[in-house]
Amino acid sequence: MRVLVLTGAGVSAESGIPTFRGKDGYWRNLDPTKLATADAFTRDPQLVWEWYRERRQRISDARPNAAHEAIARLAQCTDDFLLVTQNVDDLHARGGVAAEKMVQIHGNIFISRCSRCDWTRFEHEHPPSPRLRRTSEQEQEEGIPKCLKCTALMRPGVVWFGEQLPRNELQRVEDFLDRGACDVVIVAGTTATFGYIIDWALRGSRDGGELIEVNPEETPLSRFATQLVREPAAIALPRIVDELMNRVRPSL
Ligand code: OAD
Repeated sequence: MRVLVLTGAGVSAESGIPTFRGKDGYWRNLDPTKLATADAFTRDPQLVWEWYRERRQRISDARPNAAHEAIARLAQCTDDFLLVTQNVDDLHARGGVAAEKMVQIHGNIFISRCSRCDWTRFEHEHPPSPRLRRTSEQEQEEGIPKCLKCTALMRPGVVWFGEQLPRNELQRVEDFLDRGACDVVIVAGTTATFGYIIDWALRGSRDGGELIEVNPEETPLSRFATQLVREPAAIALPRIVDELMNRVRPSL
């Protein structure tokens, strides 16, 4: 079975990570969709870093939920599988999806990269080592991290609104889609605001594949879905994955 899974913030909601456009998304009365921009960083890098540091902390304290675990089970049981997540957290990885089966199309919050040159730095491990903890505490006190190579401001290694998607990751998605249509595409916990999410879901399910949407609310993708599951991801995904695995398992 060939499977493509596309996820968004709703999949991490039940781990306690606020979604972007949900009612808990606002931070100090600020709209996250306005904070996650190059403009906001140019205007007030300190504020943007404070927001990302809080998110990093919240993610570090969170645990993968049943939705992450169900997707990892599916990844392990299907030989041709790709997860494309818009989430910058590491909950899919900690839930058990191998790096080669996953694309983080909007980047990784635990990477910092230089706003000018190509210097990047991985910030975290689980649990954070005392050395890393000290580094981030120091930065908290000292303000905005600076590049060790060119001294420009460091920024979170995520894709902001209006920025290009990372070329290598984009290519991995294209390669997967070019290799053939999928039997099943699952789209879970995303408002599907970006055209490329809809495009990948439709291209993945071309030639009669199933397109399953898991989201308590309607999205622009809903009208294309062959199955709509209006439930939270942590409830729906374990059941959907069980059903799919029963199909591929040879009957006794
Ligand atoms: P959003 O915050 O836009 O949407 C979250 C979606 O999850 C909504 O459609 C909710 O209905 C749904 N949802 C909420 N709780 C859920 C649950 N328990 N189970 C299933 N679904 C649930 O987040 P995204 O669609 O991921 O990009 O946002 C896409 C991108 O926009 C983000 O990656 C980020 C953001 O701005 C950038 O930063 C570039």
